[in-house]
Amino acid sequence: MKIKIITPDSDRARAWAEALSAADAGFSTTAVVKPLHGADPLAHGPKPDLVVAEAVSMQDIDALDALAAASPDIEYVLVAADLGANVLMRVMRAGVREVLPTSMASGALTVAVLDAVQRLARKRPAAPAGDKRDGKVLTFVSCKGGSGATFAAANLAHVLADGGQRKVALIDLNLQFGDALLFLSSERPASNVADVARNIQRIDPDLLLSAMVPVSPGLHVLAAPEDPAQAIDVSAEHVEAIVRLARSMFDIVILDSGRSLSPVTLKSLDMADQVFVVLQLTLPYIRDGKRLRDVFRSLDYPESKIHWVVNRHEKSSRITLDDLKITLGLGQFVTLPNQYDVVANSVNQGVPVATVAPGSAITKSLTDWARQIAPQATQARRAGWLSGLFGQRPAATAESREAR
Ligand SMILES: Nc1ncnc2c1ncn2[C@@H]1O[C@H](COP(=O)(O)OP(=O)(O)O)[C@@H](O)[C@H]1O
Ligand SMILES: [Mg+2]
Repeated sequence: MKIKIITPDSDRARAWAEALSAADAGFSTTAVVKPLHGADPLAHGPKPDLVVAEAVSMQDIDALDALAAASPDIEYVLVAADLGANVLMRVMRAGVREVLPTSMASGALTVAVLDAVQRLARKRPAAPAGDKRDGKVLTFVSCKGGSGATFAAANLAHVLADGGQRKVALIDLNLQFGDALLFLSSERPASNVADVARNIQRIDPDLLLSAMVPVSPGLHVLAAPEDPAQAIDVSAEHVEAIVRLARSMFDIVILDSGRSLSPVTLKSLDMADQVFVVLQLTLPYIRDGKRLRDVFRSLDYPESKIHWVVNRHEKSSRITLDDLKITLGLGQFVTLPNQYDVVANSVNQGVPVATVAPGSAITKSLTDWARQIAPQATQARRAGWLSGLFGQRPAATAESREAR
């Protein structure tokens, strides 16, 4: 793979080039020591497959935009100062999939550059069929605070676990004020996403599982940090590693994602097999729904990846589902009924709604929805050590032998 490094800092250029060459004989690396906006990476030598570029000014970001538009087949790793949501969106739209903070200590930054390039290199043969991916990743986004995304994510997770028929993980990526665990349990988590991120070098199924709270048969929750300040300890790379591992351990991985467009949020959207956007049938939600729809389009997500969930739906609503279809230009929606008493009861006790009100309309809607997402229970079919980790014996010995 041909890699071009562009940075005005000659020490960094040398460090990154050395690290890349040492890591993989298949990497052929060249460096241009110039500001991005003064360099034309395609001017000399063969066309690179991947560009590692450092941006130090808005001019550099403009140059990257232009470059990516001209050569969309090149992959980009961007090293830059804290970008802010708008600029981050712009560079993601331009095709940048890895953004690393320029503020990192130089040694750590070199390692991060190497990691990012290796990750992209691994993805390059781009054969999703051969991917060892197992579990489905469902990412929940709230159109606006209070739309019910966390309620829906947590309770769908509970219903999907189906009393232990499926292994389901719920990971709270609302890093600052995450409350997903509270919808299902009143237990205090011993550990959380930030703790796992700090131990990312040692992450394995044991560590991940022990950081999670088992809330009901088959369902494990990785809680958000208690202290909002710990959110900064969690990077998009951490999230990628955690979700990748979770996917190999669970049938379904549900991410309750933040609302602000951060690298962590974008990672959770990128990794999703399906994104569920939760809104309500009132104008402020619909307005934000349109904005999100535009964001997804500019990220080139296929429409089939995005699913819209109308929560707190009432048949008598002034704005109808048909109005929403027209406004957002969409096909189908999932709807969940407005059931104040039942939901308040569940939320206040920290007990899943299907447990406090098994016969309620909202439980029925959740069950129907779960059936659409995962038609059959997967049975507790995970063999050997993984079953051991989950504290269960393999369901059927003959089957588990076959599974190996
Ligand atoms: N279908 C519903 N019917 C009645 N109340 C609901 C329903 N869904 C959510 N709520 C209420 O809305 C509150 C906010 O939901 P939450 O999931 O925290 O929103 P978000 O995560 O989108 O900010 C919940 O605490 C719950 O009391
Ligand atoms: Mg929430």
